[in-house]
Amino acid sequence: VILQNFKVDFAYPVYFTDSFFDREKNKEDIFAKCGIERGSKFLFVIDSNVVSANAQLTSLIEKYFELSQYEMAGEVVVIPGGESSKNNFDHVNKILTAIDQHKIDRHSYIVAIGGGAVLDAAGFAAAIAHRGIRHLRFPTTVLSQNDSGVGVKNGINYFGKKNFLGTFAPPFAVINDYSFLKTLSDRDFRCGISEAIKVGLIKDKTFFEFIESNAEKLNHRDEEVTRQLIFRCAEIHVQHNASGDPFEQGNSRPLDYGHWSAHKLEQLSGFNIRHGEAVAMGMCLDAVYANKKGLLSDHELMRVVLLMKKLQFKLFFPEMDLKSGIQNKLLSGLQEFREHLGGELTIMLIEKIGKGIEVHEVEEKLMLEAIVTMKKGTDN
Ligand SMILES: NC(=O)c1ccc[n+]([C@@H]2O[C@H](COP(=O)([O-])OP(=O)(O)OC[C@H]3O[C@@H](n4cnc5c(N)ncnc54)[C@H](O)[C@@H]3O)[C@@H](O)[C@H]2O)c1
Ligand SMILES: [Zn+2]
Repeated sequence: VILQNFKVDFAYPVYFTDSFFDREKNKEDIFAKCGIERGSKFLFVIDSNVVSANAQLTSLIEKYFELSQYEMAGEVVVIPGGESSKNNFDHVNKILTAIDQHKIDRHSYIVAIGGGAVLDAAGFAAAIAHRGIRHLRFPTTVLSQNDSGVGVKNGINYFGKKNFLGTFAPPFAVINDYSFLKTLSDRDFRCGISEAIKVGLIKDKTFFEFIESNAEKLNHRDEEVTRQLIFRCAEIHVQHNASGDPFEQGNSRPLDYGHWSAHKLEQLSGFNIRHGEAVAMGMCLDAVYANKKGLLSDHELMRVVLLMKKLQFKLFFPEMDLKSGIQNKLLSGLQEFREHLGGELTIMLIEKIGKGIEVHEVEEKLMLEAIVTMKKGTDN
């Protein structure tokens, strides 16, 4: 027998900036700080909605590169923003084609600017071309700045299933530039808050209480509170990956609290319901279930539900309607969740605010009752 054993270290910075590409406002050379060598090539992949919302962006980037020690390869590749970027392999193909045409190699950089969906698609293309090209992310939504963009995963949907194709590929660096968030719709702004509530619920009661006491300010997109929310949430994510199981080889995935039903709901809605919206519903559903199981107290359940309502999250969707019989489809999300991970079914629930607990089985009947309770809660 020959035993192979090696370790690979991964490290990447997450910077917080403002108006990154505007040289008048931002004098710092973060690319150099990241250790990027002079003459390196950059290929840009940008979310179409970010491009339309920022008329100046492409020219600012071009100007930035004219005055820099780096080279911009070809024109910016624009791919449709939102989940559609992950639902069609053509978009990945478009990025791969540009990689080939512009001779982007392993010493070059793919820079993705966009929401979580575009980052996932671009990160996937970067990971599979030449077995992995370095990639930099500029997340442009609250959700991607505090959650998906700072993590190590990418992927696209395939066979109608969320993230069926994808890899674990840590980014070279992440740059959370606040100025991008200004053009975000209220709907997408809100979506990011649900992932922050998630980390509060499973890991950090103080953070949950921070969100609770600042809910009104978040409804008004208060900048200072939002910056704090993003920083803390990103920090918890990064720490979690470093101390846990970043490439998810075990059964446990605590950061997927509320996600088994969320992913299914997104799919049932034809991806009309946003990830953050579905996660808010999914977390409440699992909290109601945990309460029915005797794990979570009535009082704590009420706090969770109230916070979601205060932040105007919808907790019941027609796709979950019991009468149509579609509820079984929602429940089939449990099985799909297990299949995606492999191994034993492991679902994170909460036993207290700030404390998650893993369970390995879900009582279907009780979960259906939880869905009914969610509907009643909305009827009231
Ligand atoms: N890789 C991971 O670990 C991970 C984790 C969580 C979620 N995700 C994925 O992230 C995706 C959700 O990401 P999201 O919540 O960022 O939504 P999104 O990428 O779907 O973006 C939402 C909408 O906002 C637009 N947009 C983005 N930035 C904008 C800006 N600055 N101004 C105006 N419009 C803007 C997009 O074009 C899109 O229409 C899902 O596909 C989800 O599966 C991945
Ligand atoms: Zn999520």
